[in-house]
Amino acid sequence: MEFFIDTAIVDEIRQASALGLVDGVTTNPSLIAKSGRDFKEVIREIASIVNGPISAEVIALDAEGMLAEGRDLAAIHPNIVIKVPMTEEGLKAVRQFSAEGIRTNVTLIFSPLQALLAAKAGASYVSPFVGRLDDVGHEGLEGVEQIRTIFDNYGFNTKIIVASVRHPLHILNAALMAADICTIPFSVMQQLAKHPLTDIGIAKFLADWQKMQQS
Ligand code: E4P
Repeated sequence: MEFFIDTAIVDEIRQASALGLVDGVTTNPSLIAKSGRDFKEVIREIASIVNGPISAEVIALDAEGMLAEGRDLAAIHPNIVIKVPMTEEGLKAVRQFSAEGIRTNVTLIFSPLQALLAAKAGASYVSPFVGRLDDVGHEGLEGVEQIRTIFDNYGFNTKIIVASVRHPLHILNAALMAADICTIPFSVMQQLAKHPLTDIGIAKFLADWQKMQQS
């Protein structure tokens, strides 16, 4: 399973990359706003750090507008993937991007049928938002399992990015159901390596070692 980092904060991307945990990056308008920086400038800087797919999202709601913005963003670097919302206009744009060889990530997917439509339109990636479904009392990962089955049934090459990840259990279950990628906030990435028994174990090994030195 690949790990993408879900942030536009360059310092977080640098830290996670140093751990070898970044296969790609996803951003969205909220994350860009949180970074407080110019959109294209941030995308350019991320592309200089990470050698993998970097999702940059369009703002336009009509296909023509999405195509204009997306072509502009794609020209920044070959690793840029255009993030397009899951709407009818978005599907039109995805089909055209695909014809032009521009990769797309269809975002704000909340049902397996939306993922099927995106794959049929030629999306390179789909992003089912599991955390936001959990937030409203639906089991977000159930949809991911169904998308996996549908894509395997028909041989779609579209990759599944499990998005809106809130905690390590999302990642464990996504891996068990063979999702291709999880896009993970930096705070959750940091939780993955930690286990209290590891810390207790290290403390005990050191204490025993020191006792031996003193005896
Ligand atoms: C995905 O690409 C989105 O950027 C992201 O995962 C949204 O997560 P949120 O629900 O925490 O905003």
